[in-house]
Amino acid sequence: MSSLIFLDSVDSTNDRLKQIAEDSPNGTAVIASCQTAGRGRLGRNWLSRPGEGAWFSVLVKDGRLTSANAGGLVFCCALAAADVLRKISGQEILIKWPNDLILNGKKLCGILCESGYDGDTLRWAVCGIGINLNAQSFPPELPFATSLLIETGLVTDSRQVALDTLAKFDAYAEILYNDGQEKLVALVAPISATLGREVRAVNGGSELVGTAEALLPDGSLLISTARGKVSVRSGEVSVRGLYGYI
Ligand code: BTN
Repeated sequence: MSSLIFLDSVDSTNDRLKQIAEDSPNGTAVIASCQTAGRGRLGRNWLSRPGEGAWFSVLVKDGRLTSANAGGLVFCCALAAADVLRKISGQEILIKWPNDLILNGKKLCGILCESGYDGDTLRWAVCGIGINLNAQSFPPELPFATSLLIETGLVTDSRQVALDTLAKFDAYAEILYNDGQEKLVALVAPISATLGREVRAVNGGSELVGTAEALLPDGSLLISTARGKVSVRSGEVSVRGLYGYI
């Protein structure tokens, strides 16, 4: 972490960091108490009320990252946040491939990584992490969201959780650079909420249903379907029994 920017309120920590990405060094992080326009994946909103969670983003600019391995950054985020939350709570925190952390079947944390390339070389990536910590409840339109407080009764220091997660993120990023994405995948697999489960993958217009069989070394998910095995690199994967996919 080379430079930390603390804000009381911001539209989105990802957006703020993207605005300053060109002129900021690797490791710059923005941590906010509240986001007024927090963003989730697929254009969704991310509820980020004051003091209720850790809302933060880190800038990655490292010449060792390319279009082939930068996808591993999302695993660095997930593993880092899972380590921190497991340490605080003693609970089993699972990773729903590739972007969510799950506690007791509900969503505790979401990750939004955005990037810009020069050809195949990564110019910048902004990795945004939202961890629901101290919310006492969620609006009805978010039935699958939860917080650490709701699940465990623990009140936590959001800023400290962000700082601890950023430190862990650095350590996992080193693993990505030195050992490759394969090593991270091996760390994700044992705490996956997806592997071995029935899943539905939606990508563009097409939909696949099958069993999530393995995480491949490049980070993609291998799904065994009635028509054979298919690997999915990105997109939306629902897990049967999680978030209402019955
Ligand atoms: C998702 O699950 O859809 C991803 C949610 C990512 C939310 C975080 S909060 C910090 C950062 N700033 C944003 O606007 N989004 C990410």
